[in-house]
Amino acid sequence: MTYRIAVIAGDGIGPEVIAEGIKAIEALTTLQEKGIQFEFVHLPWGCEYYLREGRMMPEDGMDVLREFDAIYLGAVGYPGVPDHVSLWDLLLIIRKQFDQYINLRPIRLLNGAPTVLKEGTVDNIQMTFIRENTEGEYAGAGEWLYRGQPQEVALQTGVFSRHGTERVMRYAFELARREKKTLTSISKGNALQYSMVFWDELFEEIAKDYPDVTTYSYLVDAAAMHMINDPGRFEIVVTSNLFGDIMTDIGAAIAGGMGLAAGANINPERAFPSMFEPVHGSAPDIAGQGKANPLAAIWSASQMLDHFDLTDEGAVLIQAIEHLLVEGEVLTPDLGGDGSTSEVGNRIAQLIQTIQQSN
Ligand code: NAD
Ligand code: IPM
Ligand code: MN
Repeated sequence: MTYRIAVIAGDGIGPEVIAEGIKAIEALTTLQEKGIQFEFVHLPWGCEYYLREGRMMPEDGMDVLREFDAIYLGAVGYPGVPDHVSLWDLLLIIRKQFDQYINLRPIRLLNGAPTVLKEGTVDNIQMTFIRENTEGEYAGAGEWLYRGQPQEVALQTGVFSRHGTERVMRYAFELARREKKTLTSISKGNALQYSMVFWDELFEEIAKDYPDVTTYSYLVDAAAMHMINDPGRFEIVVTSNLFGDIMTDIGAAIAGGMGLAAGANINPERAFPSMFEPVHGSAPDIAGQGKANPLAAIWSASQMLDHFDLTDEGAVLIQAIEHLLVEGEVLTPDLGGDGSTSEVGNRIAQLIQTIQQSN
């Protein structure tokens, strides 16, 4: 069995961290024993491609991607190309057109990882965020009025369909039921009297189908405060596209930093390839210096293995990350070390082999 993976390493530190994620998967000897192969096909798309070709990916790019089992993406966006152009023509269009409506972002403090919270522990920072990933505030709907004139106005419309909202909530309820966890909805019905009132109504309606799942509902501003003061109250969380974007960066800050924040963009029906990518961006401030932490990209690779039901191998990657954090000898500067991106990746590959031998 061969899994064919489209690799869009992208911009800035994207290629640096993705190389280490691939190294980690290639270090998994049990895959070879099971006769499973990963074929990585590198697609050189992104901002450099744009500056040459005038577009972020070829015209038939989506057709090319459709043939793969998954997409492994580094980061998109770099100074020189407007962000709304680079992101909408590559990352956001893939999430939307491939109906990757689940953005699964673990916010778990691993053993050995730092947290900015005084009271933060591996026991009380154990969340899974499910961010709606195809519509909401990111629907791409809006218009300019009186553009360029003194009275100009920008309209950006949030789109919350019953179908789109229900399916992400049901996915979250199913996960909470399976894992016997609580489910928290984060919204803003006090101010957003259409979209978020609808969100809250649907959450209550669907909750009736899951009487076994304990639910909570918070306004996003209060939720942001609780994430810092009392993270232990969150287990599974479901929220809208923009709120999920912001809340998961807070999550990154409390669970080891951007260098440890992983994410998966999933189409649960498997009608299209899913996409695995760290939460962070291209980090122009450290790009090209070997300083980028590859652990988020490696954790995202672990999510890709889980997606293929290779959960033992996915768990080995997480164990290797934890081992590396606990021993603390080879770490990138964001975690207080002086190791390089590839030194961390090499140590992870060694640890993977040791862990697999002892299993
Ligand atoms: P960023 O995530 O690139 O960087 C924010 C800060 O975190 C920087 O100080 C950076 O050095 C640090 N950081 C990020 N990842 C790190 C890692 N792996 N190791 C160590 N430090 C790390 O966010 P930004 O600066 O707001 O955005 C830069 C560009 O990336 C923009 O064009 C933005 O639109 C884009 N972006 C893309 C994605 C994506 O492709 N998924 C996500 C976020 C931002
Ligand atoms: C993320 C990023 C993207 C988002 C940007 C780059 C469009 O911040 O994946 O969190 O907002 O979804
Ligand atoms: Mn973000």
